[in-house]
Amino acid sequence: MEKLEMLYEGKAKKVYQTEDPNLYIVEYKDDATAFNGEKKGSIAGKGVINNKMTNIVFQYLEKNGIQTHFVKELSDRQTLVKKVEIVPLEVIVRNIAAGSFSKKFGVEEGTGLQNPILEFSYKNDSLGDPMINNMQITALGLATEKELDIISQMALKINELLKTFFWERNIILVDFKIEFGRCGAQIILADEISPDTCRLWDKDTKEKLDKDRFRRDLGKVEQAYEEVWNRITK
Ligand code: TMP
Ligand code: ASP
Repeated sequence: MEKLEMLYEGKAKKVYQTEDPNLYIVEYKDDATAFNGEKKGSIAGKGVINNKMTNIVFQYLEKNGIQTHFVKELSDRQTLVKKVEIVPLEVIVRNIAAGSFSKKFGVEEGTGLQNPILEFSYKNDSLGDPMINNMQITALGLATEKELDIISQMALKINELLKTFFWERNIILVDFKIEFGRCGAQIILADEISPDTCRLWDKDTKEKLDKDRFRRDLGKVEQAYEEVWNRITK
């Protein structure tokens, strides 16, 4: 399958049309941004790792009953996916306090939570992806109540599956962001699951193995992505 016209260029990926109107090709870049594009940089080799890691994780989720947009890995940076209409929500699940949650509620990073937390942000760069609740989502027509129920159930199930997946690889899944798409009458998992979109800490040392190393200038960014990749493919 060949890529045709580029449809969209995001901060980390490009999306191309193919000769099949139901299939797109996504191409992962090494570009990295943070704080709504304010901080810009590049993480060498990131595109390859994020592409291949997402594909491994999506196939694991598929095996466990989660439908995803994954069709076929085409090359190091390119994957064939089902065409979906993205639901304009960033769906965030948290297991341990960190990042914006720690800041907002004054809880130290690393504090345990009594239950996993599900949060939504409205995917809108010009508004800075504001947090949004269920009634605001349905009132704005971003998703129906039924779609939100499905998305919520899928997100929590994905969390349980991913927690196990990473734990077996000596990694704590602190939190992550996922996106969903409409494909016919179905809601399926789309976008990516990678160190760009998850907080991943070493189980023993609690060392950060994710994009926070870039966001916070902690150094050894490439090494952290490599380390996650090595543990996944061990
Ligand atoms: P937060 O603590 O900054 O709200 O981030 C929660 C999770 O979502 C974390 O795993 C990083 C991920 N994330 C993205 O994937 N994209 C984003 O634009 C942001 C802000 C967070
Ligand atoms: N990639 C996001 C942006 O630049 C932010 C992040 O991942 O922290 O907006």
